[in-house]
Amino acid sequence: MLSKIEKAVLKAGEHLLKGFHSTKDVHFKGKIDMVTQYDVEVEKILLEELSFMSPEYGFVAEETHKERSISKKNVYIDPIDGTTNFVHGFPFCCISVGVYDGDEGEYGIVYNPVMKELFKAERGHGAYLNGERISTSIKSNLSECLIATGFPYSVAENGCGDLTQILNVVLQNTRGIRRAGSAALDLCYTARGVFDGYYEYNLSPWDIAAGAVIAKEAGAAVFGNDGAGYDLYEKFIMAASPNISQQLFKIINKSDQ
Ligand code: IPD
Ligand code: CA
Repeated sequence: MLSKIEKAVLKAGEHLLKGFHSTKDVHFKGKIDMVTQYDVEVEKILLEELSFMSPEYGFVAEETHKERSISKKNVYIDPIDGTTNFVHGFPFCCISVGVYDGDEGEYGIVYNPVMKELFKAERGHGAYLNGERISTSIKSNLSECLIATGFPYSVAENGCGDLTQILNVVLQNTRGIRRAGSAALDLCYTARGVFDGYYEYNLSPWDIAAGAVIAKEAGAAVFGNDGAGYDLYEKFIMAASPNISQQLFKIINKSDQ
């Protein structure tokens, strides 16, 4: 199954790469929330190439199949995670495909064709970057850690709310924060130990489904709101090296109140 999904993702990745180097038609879903013809076209290729999985699997995809699926088994697709980066030519964007049986992540593939990085994982079989096994960092001192995060598009309309306070606390307790602009890749960079931890609010299931499987298989602790396990429809996700996950969770939650 994983290799069939990989084939589909590689094919769709050729189109993403073409788009990265081409002129794009940009439309706005919100004040700063963009979509291009390539988001829609890459999703179409993925849905066609993955159609062998239906009817057993439902499909939830950002551009054309947003609705929550009633199927037990589902494929979550983000055709381009990091659309703002894609539009601006910042090479941190990817295709993300996560396969779930209920709440359980079975497979995850995240592919950045611009940087030629393909992350993949199957439940119980570890996580890989371009065929090499990856694992999270083992740091246990939060002050030595590099943390990733992101912000919802709604900040442009509604402001930052508690996010600024949380940033303040994380900045004071770690070596720094990066906001690279793709939740799927942030999770994969946590999986490979580049980031020691990652947290974000208000994401959608297609942003995190694949990356969460990859992070977990690389040994990361992946949490939702309650600090135990995660739910794709929850409004908070955190992934971190198990040695710092509790410390990070605590400071984020304290500053959140
Ligand atoms: C976005 C990215 C970004 C995150 C945003 C997401 P998109 O997804 O994952 O890093 O901070 O909140 O919506 O729009 O590029 O698919
Ligand atoms: Ca997207």
